[in-house]
Amino acid sequence: MRKDRGTGLILGIESSCDETAAAVVRGGGEALSNVVASQMSLHANYGGVVPELASREHLRNIVPVVREALSRANVNFADLDAVAVTEGPGLAGALLVGITYAKALSFGLGKPLISVNHLEGHIHAVLMEVRGRAETAMELPLLALVVSGGHTHLYLARQQGSEARNELWSYRNVGRTVDDAAGEAYDKVAKLLGLGYPGGPWIDALALHGNPRAVPFGFGPINTRIPQDGMANKKESFRSEGPHFDFSFSGIKTAVLRYVEAHGMRASIETRRAALAADSEITAKSAAVVELCDQKTLDLIASFQYAVVGNLLKQTFAAAEALGAHSVVVSGGVAANSELRRRFQAEADRRGLHIAFPSLALSTDNAAMIAAAAWPKFLSGEFASDDLGASPQLRLGQQ
Ligand code: KG4
Ligand code: ZN
Repeated sequence: MRKDRGTGLILGIESSCDETAAAVVRGGGEALSNVVASQMSLHANYGGVVPELASREHLRNIVPVVREALSRANVNFADLDAVAVTEGPGLAGALLVGITYAKALSFGLGKPLISVNHLEGHIHAVLMEVRGRAETAMELPLLALVVSGGHTHLYLARQQGSEARNELWSYRNVGRTVDDAAGEAYDKVAKLLGLGYPGGPWIDALALHGNPRAVPFGFGPINTRIPQDGMANKKESFRSEGPHFDFSFSGIKTAVLRYVEAHGMRASIETRRAALAADSEITAKSAAVVELCDQKTLDLIASFQYAVVGNLLKQTFAAAEALGAHSVVVSGGVAANSELRRRFQAEADRRGLHIAFPSLALSTDNAAMIAAAAWPKFLSGEFASDDLGASPQLRLGQQ
């Protein structure tokens, strides 16, 4: 165990997808700065993240973003105790920018380098805020739903010792999507309906105006194959014994497409797409968007969201119950969804479980969560070696 905590200042760096982010966090819990340069508008033209453009933007942004994070925190490079960086999962070229920069910085400063799994970061975004609000600590084990544009995972998380001593965390992956991530389904359905990118905020806002029971979308059983020896492929590698609570969101996306075709909605979708393309002032929250949608479209949107949130809720609480979790954490971009927060809170209250969500700023990708997740590793002296590389398919914990 490392005795010298210094002043506990960790610089976090995150560049796994389309946000270049840097943050200075003290003692794993107090964010002194949290700077995010989003490339959202750049990728919006393409309706999704373009990897080559993302890497180039990270290269352009990384130095000014780190400088800004230090300046807002009012600290110098010399004040830092360690540099933490996202190792994966994510886009290879994008990850490489953050990792290469962090390695060079750590080498130049003579300070340890800590590698962090992006998914662990999302979980720690919430734990950090719970601590910051001086709420009662989350009782362990906790069940974490990490739900974003790239991920839909359930983890059972525990600490090897007590949280007060900041012992290392361990995770078991007890559920994951077998195809699309939930956020990806939001983005694809929004695109299909002629709405903006990313789709989540548009659907979230418009769903308020529709009837969630108008279209009865369903989720069938999921066929998760346990591969035999020698049959493992990338998506279906070895899984531990015990129950798994998996997800599948590609079916509902196809069901929405079929509904659109069966109800002759193409023409109105293209009119909406053209209207939005012609007026960049219209955002997900503008009243004008509602006027661009007829009632059938609003009902379809509300029904889609009702079904997706319902499925996330069902799997999460079934896992919590089966695995004896005492609390629930929801994190990642989709955790910003208002219906999800409302229904998850109500279900947790009904079951007497402590539930926590990140603030909106910490629900999407950021670097404060990377520095926070690095803190127990810093205390335990779990440092990255000089040959740290990007791990685009990195998994978290036991599968
Ligand atoms: O965590 P994040 O910023 O990046 C990834 O790691 O993917 O998540 C982005 C995802 C997008 O798919 C976006 O549509 C979704 O989060 N999202 C939402 C909402 N805000 C963002 N989904 C549903 N409701 C929202 N309010
Ligand atoms: Zn993320």
